Parts: sequence; structure tokens; C-alpha cells
Amino acid sequence: MCGIVGYIGRRDAATIILDGLRRLEYRGYDSAGIALLDDSRIRVERAVGKLSNLEAQVNRARSGYASANSDMQVGVGHTRWATHGKPSERNAHPHTSMDGTVAVVHNGIIENYAELKHELQSEGVVFRSDTDTEVIVHLVDRYMHDGYPMEQAAHATIRQLRGSQAIVLISAREPDKLIAARIGNAGGVSVGIGEGETFVASDIPGILEHTRRIVFLDSHEVAVLTSTGMTVRKLNGDVIQKDVQTIAWDPVSAEKGEYRHFMQKEIFEQGRALTDTIRGRVDFDSGEVALDNLTISIDDAVRLKRIYTTACGTSANSGLVGKFLLEGIARIPTEVDYGSEFRYRNPLVGKDMAALGITQSGETADTLAAMTEARTKGARLWSIVNSIGSQAERIADGSISMRAGPEIGVASTKAFTSSIVDQYLLACYLAQQTMAEHAKLREQAAAYARDLAHLPNLVSQLLEPQPIYDDLANAFHDRRHFLYLGRGINYPLALEGALKLKEISYIHAEGYPAGEMKHGPIALIDEEMPVLCIAVRDSVYDKMISQIEQVKARNGIVIAVATEGDSVIEQKADYVLWIPDAPPLLTPVLTAVPLQRLAYHLAVRRGCDVDQPRNLAKSVTVE
Ligand code: G6P
Repeated sequence: MCGIVGYIGRRDAATIILDGLRRLEYRGYDSAGIALLDDSRIRVERAVGKLSNLEAQVNRARSGYASANSDMQVGVGHTRWATHGKPSERNAHPHTSMDGTVAVVHNGIIENYAELKHELQSEGVVFRSDTDTEVIVHLVDRYMHDGYPMEQAAHATIRQLRGSQAIVLISAREPDKLIAARIGNAGGVSVGIGEGETFVASDIPGILEHTRRIVFLDSHEVAVLTSTGMTVRKLNGDVIQKDVQTIAWDPVSAEKGEYRHFMQKEIFEQGRALTDTIRGRVDFDSGEVALDNLTISIDDAVRLKRIYTTACGTSANSGLVGKFLLEGIARIPTEVDYGSEFRYRNPLVGKDMAALGITQSGETADTLAAMTEARTKGARLWSIVNSIGSQAERIADGSISMRAGPEIGVASTKAFTSSIVDQYLLACYLAQQTMAEHAKLREQAAAYARDLAHLPNLVSQLLEPQPIYDDLANAFHDRRHFLYLGRGINYPLALEGALKLKEISYIHAEGYPAGEMKHGPIALIDEEMPVLCIAVRDSVYDKMISQIEQVKARNGIVIAVATEGDSVIEQKADYVLWIPDAPPLLTPVLTAVPLQRLAYHLAVRRGCDVDQPRNLAKSVTVE
């Protein structure tokens, strides 16, 4: 949510920042802006809409800048996802002080901004936007006018702000530095260390092209960046030595390449992503699972009474699949809750329990808050995370990396399937530990783990070109509603299939447990209603067949997801999306792919902006 990129060094700051913002545009895309130091003044350009509007504006304006070829280049940029104030040029970041000497970009919400604004206004400050962000720049400016150096002015300002924030500041009065701060969980602040240049971004794909040496700021840390490096302090002034991590992600993997959309590319990367997810974690001879950054002793595993999974959006649907895996394989009762609900219901979580946060970005505010709540109540804290170095990874006692690679499309795809497999691995590992004394059960857990060997290949089979997706897009792109039905472990897939369709095509879709159809949704069925039925060969297959019959009896249109070779479905359904035969607990990974492809094709056919659907953001770092 809101992308930030900053640069100080000898190269062209505008190019580096705009390029970085383009890679972070998935975080917000209703307006964008940039502030560049130009001799002794700050130049600001801001534009509503996509980043390309800002790029054009900057290109036009730059010919008039004094420092187009200057030695030292400094700047900050921002793509916005509006919280306070409509998307408009006046509300786009950066915001500047009244005299134009300080500029700020910000991600997060300042909970006490109204009172701070009132106080500043009573001192004569004139606000030029409707944002909460603007108070930051006026406060910093006030402290600098009182004689504080920029760093101390930033500290004094931050101490006055309530809520979670990520902030980057520049000032024409101290042109040799950028200040970056992180307070709470409102999104990451990653500093990239280069040779004679330093970068900052809210997410590492924004700067990976330039350096792989990254420092992640923790909450309540303020960094002063210069072209030769950085100094980090806590708000009490203590200097902190931070580890520099070398990131293995290949920057090319954050490019679209030959694909039309990132979402399309990410759907097609799932075979590779799953290979990476499994690689090195399963010994296929013994069936043993080893998770490098998540361990539990046999005694503690045996004592584990319950797992609470918390997550949002697609990650929450993945958690619902995981419940079947953790209960089915490890026999540990598992509850799944949205991050935004969990901590408001006084959950009965505590000692001898584990809280598992699942999050692609590792920065979703509701998930992080739920995780923190569970830890406060005494639970062991685990996470499954895709973004390396993110907060959810760092605050957990143990973490499993999704290894899906950068996911840029706002609608999550490969992180969904990778995180299901991570939960499968966790279930096998826990089964191994809890059943250590029971040879038969242990062998059963090993057999589950061995089942993973063929999964990436099975997924790859689903990625062949198939004309049926175009046929379906042509037939149904003008429908206003879809119903998705699934049962058992594939019920969460009905939710996920419907979510994918809603997110990117704006067709209303509802995911429902198939057995509940007769208690409500059946009233919606007529010859206009496409009903997607997940009817793969598993223990509830016969039940799904009777649901299909009930839909057909009311003239509904059935699109089935079914197991190859099923001649019964072929007779009953209007369209069939085939998946290869697989062990029942792994079918959701396969079912996911046709649902993603269907949503993608429908959205493209409707002319929707697949990678940047309206009103959504990739990382939601506010409550
Ligand atoms: C946003 C994204 C979704 C994502 C959800 C949770 O709503 O648009 O695609 O599933 O956040 O994100 P996380 O990074 O925590 O998995």
C-alpha cells in the first residue's frame, strides 16, 4: 500500500526513482509524485492516475531544472493508495513545507493528525492537501526553524505521531542526506547499499536492480542515508548496528518478460515456484521433512494443543485449505481467522498453542496485528511469508519461506499455491515430530511427504495452452454473477476462485460450500447463472455430482473442474476444466490453476486492468 523509492548518489535520481516506482506500482496506483533536489531547492512533480502520467510530466519539466547534470542527485518518489483525501494532484505525495525546503513521502495512517493539524494551523501553517501526511512535513519544518538539525527534527516529529508509518524525508537545507523511518507495521522500509549510492524503498523489487545488499528497518528505527552508507538510531538516540542481507532474488524475475500481464506470468510460474518451495525440504527416501527456519522439539510438538491461523484475502483462503492439512496429516486442531477479526474476539489462544500468520507481503497490517496479539497471549509465533526480510518473517519464532519469487500482480496466484504447499510441509513436519514414537503413523507422514515429488509436474501439465479458456471468456464475459461451489478441502477453492474473479473482472462472484446451496443460493439459479462446480475425484465426489444435478435441474450452466478421465462429469457439465489425478490433500493446488486462468481470461476479455484492479492494493499496510 503506497510505494516509496528514494535515492542519493551520483546517478540520475529521477530515472532511478521512476523506474523503482514502476516496479512498486502494484502497491498503489491512484496518483504518484516525485521530489528532486535541484541546487538549493526542491522540485516536486505530481500527477493523478498511473505512473506513466507522472513520467511524462517529469520528462517535460526536467529540461528547466538547474541540476539536470549535477554531481549529487537526491530524490524521493511515491505511488499512492488513498486513505485520507481523494486521489487528486493536491493529495498526491510528496508534500512540502510552506517554504518548499522539506519534502516528505509517507505510507500509513497518522491517527492523531487532526489534533496536530489544528495545532499547526493555530500557529499559522497553511495546509495545501487533505492528507494526514502533510502534518509531518510542517512539524519537521517547524523543528528545523527552531534550530534542530534534520535528523533531530525527524525524531522529534515522529515522537508526536500516533499510528504506524513509513516515512522518507529530504530537505534542501541538508541536501546531503535522506531520512527514512519505520514506526509500527505500516509497511516495510528497505535500504539498499550501493557503491557511492544508497537507495530506499518500501519493497525490495523497487531497488533490487541496483543492489542486492539490503538493510531492513525495524519498528521505531530512523535511518540517515548518505551516498556512502547509513546510520540507524532508535528514537532514544541509540545507534543500532544493522545486518546487511544479501538478497538472492533475481531482479529479472520481477519483469513481465514475454507475458502480457504479471498475473499471467505468475500463474505460469507455478510449476517452478512449487519446485523451489519443495526443494531441499523433503528427503524423498526417508520421507523426512526439514524446515530450516522453523523447528519444534518432539516434547513441544506433542504438547501443541491447537494452531490458530491468521491471514487476509487469498492468504486466508490458503489458511482454510491448511486447516485440512494440519488436521488431516498432523491431527492438530486448527482454527482459521481473518487478521482483521482475530484480535477483536478475545481469542482463546495461549500457551502450548501456535499462531501461524500467512502473508505473501509479510506486511499486511491486520495479519501482523493478529500475530502480535497471539504472541502477547503466550502462543508460539510462526509465519509463512513470501517477501524476504518482511516484518512477518522477522517477528516470528519460526518462519517458512514461500519461495514463490516476487509476486507483482495484485491478485495473488503463485503465493497461494506455494503457501498451501508450505502448510502441507509444516503438517508433515509436525506429524513427524508428534508421531515420533509410532512407527506406523510416522511412515504415514513420510508417505504424505513423498506425494509432493510429482506435484510441480502435475501443476505444469495444467499450464499448457487450452482453447477452452477463450471459449469460456467469450461465452461468459458479459455475465454479472457467478456462483462457485466446492466441498471439503475444495470449499476454500470455491472462495478463492470467486475472489479471483471479483478482484480482476469486477463480476460479482460468490463462493459457497456446495452442501449449503439448497439453503439459499439455489434461489439464484436460472439459465443465466454460470455455476462453477469443483467436482474432483475425492471423498465428496458423489455429493458434488448431486449438486451438479440440482443446478442442471434449474437450467443453470455448469462449468466443472474435474479429474481427467471422468466420463460421468463429461455427460453432466456444460464445460469441463480438467485436472490430473492427484492425492486428495494435494488437489487444491491443482484446482487453483484453472480457477486462476478462468478469472484471468474473463478479465482480459472484459478489457480490465488485470495487474492493477481498481481500488485494490497488493500490500494493505493499514487497518
Ligand atoms: C490484498 C491483496 C490480496 C492479498 C491480501 C493479503 O488484499 O490484494 O491479493 O491476498 O492483501 O495479502 P498478504 O500479503 O498478507 O498475503
